[in-house]
Amino acid sequence: MSEHRKKENIYLVGFMGAGKTTIGKVLSKNLRLPFYDLDIEIASFCKSTIKDVFKNKGEDFFRDTETKILESVSSKSYNAVISTGGGVVLKDENWQLMNSNGKVVYLNANIDSIWKRVKSGSKRPLLNVENAFEKASELLTLREKFYRKADITIDTDGLSVDETVGKIVDSLTL
Ligand code: S3P
Repeated sequence: MSEHRKKENIYLVGFMGAGKTTIGKVLSKNLRLPFYDLDIEIASFCKSTIKDVFKNKGEDFFRDTETKILESVSSKSYNAVISTGGGVVLKDENWQLMNSNGKVVYLNANIDSIWKRVKSGSKRPLLNVENAFEKASELLTLREKFYRKADITIDTDGLSVDETVGKIVDSLTL
């Protein structure tokens, strides 16, 4: 295929617990497209867990690696569904990569839906703190303006996975 072939990746962004991985998998199946989850790619590249990467190497190392992996997945994929980590939206460089290689879809969820999904886990280092609910609300508020830079926003509260996927497909084909 020519190297000028248009990149039409679908990047799912959103806060931790917004359902990016679950929805990404179903979306990719429905559209018959390859699926990548950036956190899984990062963990495999670092031969570690995300939790241990944060603990042993720190957040700056994680963010640099996240950009590297976003770049390598984007450069090899033309038409894939790519679930990102909740903090990918913080760097301009990541936006340049996503915007020039496809469409960005924001899975918007309110703090109550998010909290239901993240409260019992310990795999998210940024929420491994005493006041995790307050931390999550604060981070969500701070990040809202970054998520809103997406091409498409899907409000997911109260929707099933299939309903959310349906909404994404509709808005991509409109
Ligand atoms: C992060 C979100 C996590 C993971 C890392 C940092 C963030 O991914 O990339 O813990 O900064 O919001 P999920 O959004 O898949 O939980």
